[in-house]
Amino acid sequence: MGKIKKSIDTQDLLKEAFKAREAAHAPYSRFKVGAALLCDDGSVFTGCNVENASYGLTVCAERVTVFKAVSEGRKKFAALAVVADTPEPVQPCGACLQVLAEFSPKMDLMLIMGGRKGKLKSCRLNQLLPGAFRLKRGRH
Ligand code: THU
Repeated sequence: MGKIKKSIDTQDLLKEAFKAREAAHAPYSRFKVGAALLCDDGSVFTGCNVENASYGLTVCAERVTVFKAVSEGRKKFAALAVVADTPEPVQPCGACLQVLAEFSPKMDLMLIMGGRKGKLKSCRLNQLLPGAFRLKRGRH
């Protein structure tokens, strides 16, 4: 795959996601996930899943990553890489897709999914979430 933007290519972003995965806190599922988000200004934010003894409080790697970026003033994203040690590339969950949709009005965010042995898949957000929930102030 070619360059995505500003000299960060797919392989670099995946590498960042795999590095971030090492910090995953997943003592309950033992399923470690890492993510890396490329912002339109060229900056990259990373994250991992953070589980909790009260299971429902667990936050996926993708959401941790988006929230890190947004809390640092970024809201425009070009691509998200997400990786796990799975035979097939890992697919973001529906909740994370909805959170990503919030910051991708055209649903064109590039998603790069990675698994074991360099297995790769990529698509745009609208392919995984054809219809996101939208709330327009004063219009419902
Ligand atoms: N998980 C993620 O971090 N991202 C995904 O896309 C799927 C699931 C995490 C949540 C939980 O810590 C573990 O994987 C098992 O569900």
